[in-house]
Amino acid sequence: MSTAGTVTSFVARLYGERLRVAYDGYVTRDPVERLSLRPGRDDPYALYERIRDRGTLSRTRHGGWVTPSYELSSAVLRDRGLTSSRGVGEGGGAGLDEASLSFLGMNPPDHTRLRSVVRRAFSPRALDGYRPRIERSVDTLLDAASARGSFDLVGSLAAPLPIAVITDLLGIPDEYALDFAEYGATIGSALDGIRSLRHAARLVNSQTKLAAMFDDLFARRRADPRDDVISTLANAPDDVVAPGELRPLCFLLLIAGFETTVNLIGNCVLALLDRPPLWRELCADPVGLAGAVVEETLRFDPPVQRTSRYPSRETELAGRLLRPDEQVVVLIGAANRDPAVYRRPDEFDPHRAGAPEHLAFSAGTHYCLGGPLARLEAQVAVRRLAERMPHLQRAGAVRRRNATTIRGPVELPVRLAAAPRATGAGS
Ligand code: HEM
Repeated sequence: MSTAGTVTSFVARLYGERLRVAYDGYVTRDPVERLSLRPGRDDPYALYERIRDRGTLSRTRHGGWVTPSYELSSAVLRDRGLTSSRGVGEGGGAGLDEASLSFLGMNPPDHTRLRSVVRRAFSPRALDGYRPRIERSVDTLLDAASARGSFDLVGSLAAPLPIAVITDLLGIPDEYALDFAEYGATIGSALDGIRSLRHAARLVNSQTKLAAMFDDLFARRRADPRDDVISTLANAPDDVVAPGELRPLCFLLLIAGFETTVNLIGNCVLALLDRPPLWRELCADPVGLAGAVVEETLRFDPPVQRTSRYPSRETELAGRLLRPDEQVVVLIGAANRDPAVYRRPDEFDPHRAGAPEHLAFSAGTHYCLGGPLARLEAQVAVRRLAERMPHLQRAGAVRRRNATTIRGPVELPVRLAAAPRATGAGS
């Protein structure tokens, strides 16, 4: 097909798809479709309850299935007969070359082979090594923010921290760091699909530039290996990481590292500042409470709201027969508030005990590799924030990410009050 033909059909598909979602969401008021529209971005949890009313596993309007149930979601994610071959999100990842999701879209044994190569970078020993660097990064960012008095928590802390950490972990040299951050952000934004032709063009441009950057680094680290992930990958034998698998692996780590932890920190601080008594409790015991607060954020408002699986053959699930190509959307955000599993599921309560682990990091074969790192980053961030800025308050409206799979604030204005307030801050 000519370039003009490709562009025309791309535009027709893109806008046809948008029209379909808008029709189903606004006209038929279908709750699954509404998740991709403004009502779903503002409050997906109300829509999840409408989906829950339909049962454990229900049909989507387009031949797929959706589950809001914790028990079924957990079973689907652990079921080896269901694959993740189309990546993250319903129709999500549409803007990305599937191969760029590397082992997230693979099954064992290839999945196991590639996951093991990078596992060492996320081991407890490696995490101990990252901790002081994370603490230093957080303190440097907070020094700059506190000098300003009023600042955007996302732009000043939640976004730059994970970028600094993943840059460090991969071993991106300083001279590449700024370009790397810019291209990485563009590529990460495609997790929810391509929004426009301009977005598509920026994506292709970023992918090309990043690919060249990685190729250059692979060559440099072959000649002069360091203690970083790019050196490990570049020097792995071809039967462990085939040459064509190198770049997709780096892209996966980049996207996973960029687009998720930022929202965990944002969602956590938002939940705390909206609950002044809880914020004060954290400030009274930052070391003791930071872990529980981060964990409850992962349950209550998870950064990755959904994923999906595909049966590799005819499969029975919750009494329904699924055909091989039918997508099963797992609503992680809904599963984490399933009243069959969590008491008072809509309450943010870091003191809940005895409940099973949330599904924010998925489950089974594809359980998030970076979970411990994300937890560490978020815990250090909220602990240091509580220690250094106990008088922090909200200072304006939250602007939310325009996304369905990923949830979090894109802007969270805050300010440092001069003195503690008896009633605390609120929205
Ligand atoms: C709060 C932060 C994070 C959240 C909520 C999150 C969530 C997830 C989820 C839900 C999956 C599985 C998707 C599925 O089952 O289809 C996943 C997989 C993955 N995550 Fe994370 N993630 C986070 C941070 C990170 C970080 C910081 C990294 C690394 C830098 C990372 C690396 C990965 C990788 C490599 C996979 C693929 C695992 C596999 O297929 O075996 N994640 N993550």
